[in-house]
Amino acid sequence: MKNILVTGGCGFIGSNFIRYLLSASDFTGRIINVDKLTYAGNPENLAGIAEKFSGRYTFINADICHPEPMSEMFETHEIDTVCHFAAESHVDRSIVEPDDFVKTNILGTFHLLELARKHRMHLFHHVSTDEVYGTLGSDGLFSEATPYDPSSPYSASKAASDHLVRAYHKTYGIPVTVSNCSNNYGPYQFPEKLIPLMILNALEGKPLPVYGDGRNVRDWLYVMDHCRAVWTIMKTGRRGETYNIGGRCEMQNIGVVRMLCDILDEMNPGKASKRELITFVTDRPGHDLRYAIDSGKLEGELNWTPAESFETGIRKTIRWYLDNKGWVERIKTGEYLSWMERQYGVMKMLPTFSKS
Ligand code: NAD
Ligand code: TYD
Repeated sequence: MKNILVTGGCGFIGSNFIRYLLSASDFTGRIINVDKLTYAGNPENLAGIAEKFSGRYTFINADICHPEPMSEMFETHEIDTVCHFAAESHVDRSIVEPDDFVKTNILGTFHLLELARKHRMHLFHHVSTDEVYGTLGSDGLFSEATPYDPSSPYSASKAASDHLVRAYHKTYGIPVTVSNCSNNYGPYQFPEKLIPLMILNALEGKPLPVYGDGRNVRDWLYVMDHCRAVWTIMKTGRRGETYNIGGRCEMQNIGVVRMLCDILDEMNPGKASKRELITFVTDRPGHDLRYAIDSGKLEGELNWTPAESFETGIRKTIRWYLDNKGWVERIKTGEYLSWMERQYGVMKMLPTFSKS
């Protein structure tokens, strides 16, 4: 793997992955980061990287749905490996505006696969989500053999892209690996997702909107553990195989929010407890009850285990948001705020789903 194309590298996980890989002792090649820079793509997430890793990092502002510039880029940079993160990634947005989810997640993946078919590929790694499996009841775990049963336009579009990747392996022999990961958290996560949204709202004394009764369960994984898992699969995963990635860290949403409040009270004390800001709001339509991953295949075959517990990872994450208020401010005054204002009149009114 000499010239790795990372798609969506200015997003949350992609930018953490690029930082991780350029510093990894077992990678000496180059990274070409292609990102459309949607509201979620922020070049600031990789500030200083081009200078620090001069000659090993290139950024290209392009849309994976546009085959011509992408094809030119494959040739110019002699791409031999793809690590595909680029996607529309937020379930709530997919409920309100599904179009871009179908375009980027399905058609974008298709266009990339076509390019991979035309060039000699060492590997096409596809980054996906556990949400393709739909919802669990109160027990059981998702395994790689769990049938797909997506609930939202987001998870349906990711499911379609997973099928395309596997079909291109079977039909055209492209060497692929697929990973389906649980919910990530950590530095640089866009503040529309549960954890950064709650941290930032709590710091500003704003309501903490918990959907429904707050008993929905997610399986949380620190982003760097995900990045290490992806690189492990790329290096040693069997071609054509799928690996589930999870933290064995199931938490009810209300438990996550209360824990965030308590740690914030300790790290950034105010007059009242942050728990007083918790507000139960109308549930998300089609809200999956529970996700939980069996990552036994990845652990057993490839010897991966998460390094962070939820407590250590969440403390690092809160510290990062406290130390990077400039990053937060620049996001708030940008496209995100204007999108929210256009849709709902105020920032983060999505939980009610009543105005769409
Ligand atoms: P993100 O929304 O933070 O970043 C997505 C990036 O893709 C952005 O930089 C955006 O500009 C870019 N992008 C979007 N459309 C594009 C296009 N047409 N062409 C080029 N670039 C485009 O997302 P994330 O949370 O970092 O997720 C990355 C990947 O990981 C996604 O495929 C997602 O499905 C998957 N995933 C995410 C999680 C999670 O908890 N966030 C969990 C499991 C899997
Ligand atoms: P989210 O971060 O959007 O990830 P996903 O929907 O992909 O799991 O949401 C995580 C959980 O938190 C999910 O059960 C929905 C819930 N949630 C809230 O209760 N309030 C919020 O404001 C958000 C964004 C999410």
